[in-house]
Amino acid sequence: MTTELDAMEVDLLARVAASEDTAALEAVRLEALGKTGVISALLKSLGSMSPDERRVQGPLINGLRDRVAGAIAARKAELEAAELDAKLAAGKLDLSLPAPPRRRGVVHPTMQVMDEMIAIFAEMGFALAEGPDIEDDFHNFTALNFPPRHPAREMHDTFFFPPNADGERKVLRTHTSPVQVRTMQRTNTPPAAPWIPGGQEPPIRIISPGRTYRCDSDATHTPMFHQLEGLVIDRNIHMGHLKWTLDQFIARFFELDGVVTRFRPHHFPFTEPSAEMDVQCDTSGGEVKIGVGTEWSEIVGCGMVHPNVLRNCGIDPDEWQGFAFGFGVDRLGRLKYGMPDLRDMFSSDVRWLAHYGFSAFAAPNPASGLS
Ligand code: PHE
Repeated sequence: MTTELDAMEVDLLARVAASEDTAALEAVRLEALGKTGVISALLKSLGSMSPDERRVQGPLINGLRDRVAGAIAARKAELEAAELDAKLAAGKLDLSLPAPPRRRGVVHPTMQVMDEMIAIFAEMGFALAEGPDIEDDFHNFTALNFPPRHPAREMHDTFFFPPNADGERKVLRTHTSPVQVRTMQRTNTPPAAPWIPGGQEPPIRIISPGRTYRCDSDATHTPMFHQLEGLVIDRNIHMGHLKWTLDQFIARFFELDGVVTRFRPHHFPFTEPSAEMDVQCDTSGGEVKIGVGTEWSEIVGCGMVHPNVLRNCGIDPDEWQGFAFGFGVDRLGRLKYGMPDLRDMFSSDVRWLAHYGFSAFAAPNPASGLS
């Protein structure tokens, strides 16, 4: 009996040790200690033994059971740890994999160009002024020295609203010049609220960027477009200041030294004398190159503020003079970044935007570069 038990123990322990996984080990356990297992049968046989026999066999069989059960538990722990390691190794996270792509927004070229312009003029000491898109006739036309029914109003291809009860027709502003008027008027009135500047005499040095509207649509005109207007009012301001300011701006904006510009006489009701400034360019290669060549591209309308405009805004033209200029922002963007059709800029095609857009993290700054 003893040798039988010994042989059984050697065999069972060998099979426990040889079990390659928990399933194989469980099969060995059932064979030994399950309901019909060989050790369970031995334990059951104790009941039919004589007390003397049981006293001898009891400890032997129980010892066998304890050692086999102990070996199974130890092997089980070993196999479970190994299986867990294998699972972890197989399913491990690879942190070096690139993250799945995320859709990222971009800055529209018009907004980028506006930010570039604002950055340059802010550094020159211009403050930012804004006004409403829906204007009245006074601010858009009359105060700016457009006589009633004058053909100059026609040139502005205005979007008019239906007349209101007292016959007044509001307009979508045709230019950002009404902001000049609002700014000059405000210098003579106390601030309407603590956060609205007012009550200050000239000097005035502002830029007013914003949306403007004219009923006009082709490759170089869209019904909605953007302007950035500048206004300087001070004592003894003359065309030389205007030319210097624009030349400085153009050189910085296009990041070119010594760009050649020229003043060409023009007419605006609100400036006298009036001019358009052209910049030297070359279009022979099919695209516009600024700062080289023998051609000219119109870049900005400008002039000395008409005395009537100053008077209309409560400023004495004998004491104060100034200049104004008005850029087409979208047009400048096209010249700098080469977008062929202005209408594409507002067609909301995300493929166009992905191509021409700018990173939101590349905020323009004259010190670190603009584009
Ligand atoms: N307001 C003019 C326009 O839209 C541009 C301009 C502004 C011209 C200021 C001269 C001075 O046509």
